[in-house]
Amino acid sequence: MSRAAPVLTIDGPGGSGKGTIARRVATALGWHLLDSGALYRLVALAGQLQSLAADDIEGHAGVAANLQVTFGVQADGSEQILLGTPPIDVTAAIRTEEAGLGASRVAAWPPVRTALFQRQRDFARLPGLVADGRDMGTVVFPDAPLKIYLTASVEERARRRYNQLKDKDSGVSLLALLRDMAERDARDMSRAVAPLVAAQDAIVIDSTPLGINEVVAQVLDLVHLRRLHST
Ligand code: DC
Repeated sequence: MSRAAPVLTIDGPGGSGKGTIARRVATALGWHLLDSGALYRLVALAGQLQSLAADDIEGHAGVAANLQVTFGVQADGSEQILLGTPPIDVTAAIRTEEAGLGASRVAAWPPVRTALFQRQRDFARLPGLVADGRDMGTVVFPDAPLKIYLTASVEERARRRYNQLKDKDSGVSLLALLRDMAERDARDMSRAVAPLVAAQDAIVIDSTPLGINEVVAQVLDLVHLRRLHST
């Protein structure tokens, strides 16, 4: 029988450092990466591009089921995300705060989550997968052999996000980010389906006092302790 691909799930709220850490860990292990938040961001953006009403649940579920997306890398090694045919480059457009809030709204709708479920499962391929999101360990990969729940205080997360955005967007304010983040946390944690919550068997890492390198090292130690990586 062929060996199933090991899956490492990293869930947690926005700004906890999940995205950066998942990418670094995947690169260090030579594993695939699933950025599930990008899929919800893409659904929200594609819905907007197709002029769907903001409350059109079935319309957005249709968009999710038919999403044509290519995840690639640019010449400098950074990510490139192309949407639709002919493809348009949405790499920057899906990373705005507005796209994040839109993603959080469409992600609360069960038909959208159902439409994306199998697509996410299909990312699990050898030699392994690092899956980053909100429900990776609880819903999409409940049997994953290693689950991390990465968190940080809301103030620290807003400060990190501010530092990321301030060079790209001069209008960004720390207070507005703090408010948006608290709003997004509340919606992601309280929704009826697949709310943001640590899986019972997840290892919780609070990154408030830690740097990225320290968290990456802790996660890689856990992968090796559990003998998930073959070399
Ligand atoms: O990780 P992110 O900021 O790119 O995610 C954007 C939104 O998508 C987030 O507010 C909630 C939603 N999301 C989700 O519901 N389930 C996931 N697995 C990933 C993201």
